[in-house]
Amino acid sequence: MNTAFVTGASGFIGSNLVDRLLAAGLKVVGWDNLSTGQIRFLNGAKQNENFRFVQGDNLDLPALTDAMAGCDFVFHLAANADVRFGTNHPRRDLEQNTIATANVLEGMRANNIRRIAFASTGSIYGEPEIHPTPETAPFPVQTSLYGASKLAAEGMIAAYSEGFGYQSYIFRFVSILGYRYTHGHVFDFFHQLEQHPDHLKVLGDGHQRKSYLHVQDCVDAILTAVNTATEKVNIYNLGTNEYCEVRDSIGWICETLGVKPRLDFTGGKRGWIGDSPFIFLDTQKIRSLGWKPRLSIREGVIATVKYLKANTWVFDARAA
Ligand SMILES: NC(=O)c1ccc[n+]([C@@H]2O[C@H](COP(=O)([O-])OP(=O)(O)OC[C@H]3O[C@@H](n4cnc5c(N)ncnc54)[C@H](O)[C@@H]3O)[C@@H](O)[C@H]2O)c1
Repeated sequence: MNTAFVTGASGFIGSNLVDRLLAAGLKVVGWDNLSTGQIRFLNGAKQNENFRFVQGDNLDLPALTDAMAGCDFVFHLAANADVRFGTNHPRRDLEQNTIATANVLEGMRANNIRRIAFASTGSIYGEPEIHPTPETAPFPVQTSLYGASKLAAEGMIAAYSEGFGYQSYIFRFVSILGYRYTHGHVFDFFHQLEQHPDHLKVLGDGHQRKSYLHVQDCVDAILTAVNTATEKVNIYNLGTNEYCEVRDSIGWICETLGVKPRLDFTGGKRGWIGDSPFIFLDTQKIRSLGWKPRLSIREGVIATVKYLKANTWVFDARAA
């Protein structure tokens, strides 16, 4: 890999990846429409002469194809990354996750780029029966438009790999935490507690069991796999070897903020349509490449609260 093209470069995970690629001495073209991404996240990257940012949209195939010229690897992270509001706008996941991925694959084909890493999600497993859930779990029944759109994108990537000789890396992550975090349960709880430290509304019964991974561990895993795995289609779960209940996470958040709110649960096993009550991925496959996470879930949650405390501007930026 010499020159990487990163879609979603100004997003939470994308901007962390850009910094790591630049630190490794690679050239990077960052692509983003700034819909949820923050240009501020690229302030450091922009100081580096190996970095170029192009603002554009994955649905604009001619512009996307032009921007990819000269690159030899695509990290495709741009997406509608929120599982929660899928049914409010049923075409969004299809357009932003599936059709956008088809465009990325076509842009690559026009530029003769043959390697792609894709940010998929553990949500493609729906509500699995096997825990921890391996990559080879029985073909899952979909429970969210987000998961369905990502699974369709995985299918497109695998078919292009077979049909056009691409090499692909598909990463199914649990929820990611850490530096530049801008969406997810810690974000929502922190925001509520800033406004009213005495009470907290929690979606579901708080007994949902979840697994989380720190963004630096996520980026480490992605780079480990793309540098070592050799199959045509390489599929990896990414997560920690543990899970917690939402109630545990609330305890760590409150302890870090020094607050003791009353908890108001909306009730039920799921917080929203597509919220899997138990997410815990089997990560033996990525571990067999020598990767292991450095931070526990508790450490990741606390690091995220500290990041948000020091960067409350992200709440205004995401609300804008
Ligand atoms: N954060 C998580 O917990 C998590 C978990 C599983 C999978 N993922 C996946 O990882 C990837 C990155 O997620 P994130 O948390 O960094 O989200 P994010 O919203 O911070 O990043 C997505 C980026 O893509 C950009 N973008 C969106 N639509 C675009 C389009 N049409 N054209 C160009 N740019 C566009 C946004 O502006 C943003 O910068 C996504 O594909 C997401 O589905 C994230």
